[in-house]
Amino acid sequence: MSRFETIPSVAQGLGDVGYVADEGIAGVVFLADRLEKPVLVEGPAGTGKTQLAKSVAELTGSRLIRLQCYEGLDESKALYEWNYRKQLLRIQAEQVAEAGGAAAGTDWHALEADIFSEQFLLTRPLLEAIRADEPVVLLVDEVDRVELETEALLLEVLSEYQVSIPELGTVRATQVPMVFLTSNNTRELSEALKRRCLYLHLDYPTLEREREIVRAKVPDITGELADQVARIVRSLRSLELRKAPSVSETLDWARTLVVLGVESIDAAGARDTLHVLLKYQSDIERAARELLAAHA
Ligand SMILES: Nc1ncnc2c1ncn2[C@@H]1O[C@H](COP(=O)(O)OP(=O)(O)O)[C@@H](O)[C@H]1O
Ligand SMILES: [Mg+2]
Repeated sequence: MSRFETIPSVAQGLGDVGYVADEGIAGVVFLADRLEKPVLVEGPAGTGKTQLAKSVAELTGSRLIRLQCYEGLDESKALYEWNYRKQLLRIQAEQVAEAGGAAAGTDWHALEADIFSEQFLLTRPLLEAIRADEPVVLLVDEVDRVELETEALLLEVLSEYQVSIPELGTVRATQVPMVFLTSNNTRELSEALKRRCLYLHLDYPTLEREREIVRAKVPDITGELADQVARIVRSLRSLELRKAPSVSETLDWARTLVVLGVESIDAAGARDTLHVLLKYQSDIERAARELLAAHA
C-alpha cells in the first residue's frame, strides 16, 4: 500500500506540516515509498535534512524512530543488547530456589532458553523500527559519524528489512518502514550503503524557497522583511566565509529581527545582528566590511 498519490501531493502535504519542499525533494520521498528504498540525504549542516524525516513522519502519521549516530556507536546501541543485569537476577533466583529445596537441580538448558528470550532483550532503534506494528519512519541521523564497520551493520537492516539475533532467530519487518539517512559528508560512505539508497542532495535553498521557509517558520514576519532577510543571507553565502549561514541561522536571524521590532532591514542595518548569522569573529568582520562596501 502506498503512502502518497502523486509527487505534487507530497510537496503539498509537506507544506501543510511546515516543510517547504521543491519538486526534487518531493520526488525522492515519493519514490522512496513506491520503491521501498531508504533515502540518503546529504548536504551542508542546517539545510533541513533531519527536519525532512521528521516532517515525513508527521505527514504520514508515523512514529519517528531516531538513531543518532556518533563515533563509537556499536551494535548494542544500534540494534539490541541483552539485559545482563536482569539475566543475572534470573539465574540468582534459580539458585536461591534450588538451595531452598524448591527446585530439584538446575536445568541449564531451560534456563538458557529462558534468559535469551524476548523479555530479556533490550531493543535499540533499528530493531525497534523493524519490529514496530504501527507505521514508522526510521531516521539514521548523521550516519557519516560512525565507523565503516558499524555502517556495515546497517546494510542487512536496510536491504532486507530484517535483523538476525543468533539466540532468537531472524526478526522480519511486517511492514517496510520509510528510512532516512542523513550525512554531513565528513567522510565518504561505502559504495554498498549508497547502492541501497536513493540519493538526495540538500543544498542551501533558492532565494524563493528560503523566503517561503522563513514565512512558514516565522509567522509574525512581513513578506517584505522575509524577502530582505533571504536576500542578505544569500549575499553572505557568496562571500568566502569559514562557516556560511545555514537555514537554521536564517530562521534565528528572522526571529531576532521580529523580536527587536525591526520592520525593514538593509545591508548596513544588518551589521548589528550579524552575530546571530555568523559564528566566527573573522566571518563577522569580513561580512561587515563587505556589507558596508555594498552599501556605499
Ligand atoms: N525546507 C524547509 N522547510 C522548513 N523548515 C526548514 C527547511 N529546511 C530547513 N528548515 C529548518 O531549518 C532548521 C535546520 O534544519 P535541520 O533539519 O536540523 O538541518 P540539518 O539536519 O540539515 O542540519 C530547522 O529548524 C528546520 O525546521
Ligand atoms: Mg541534522
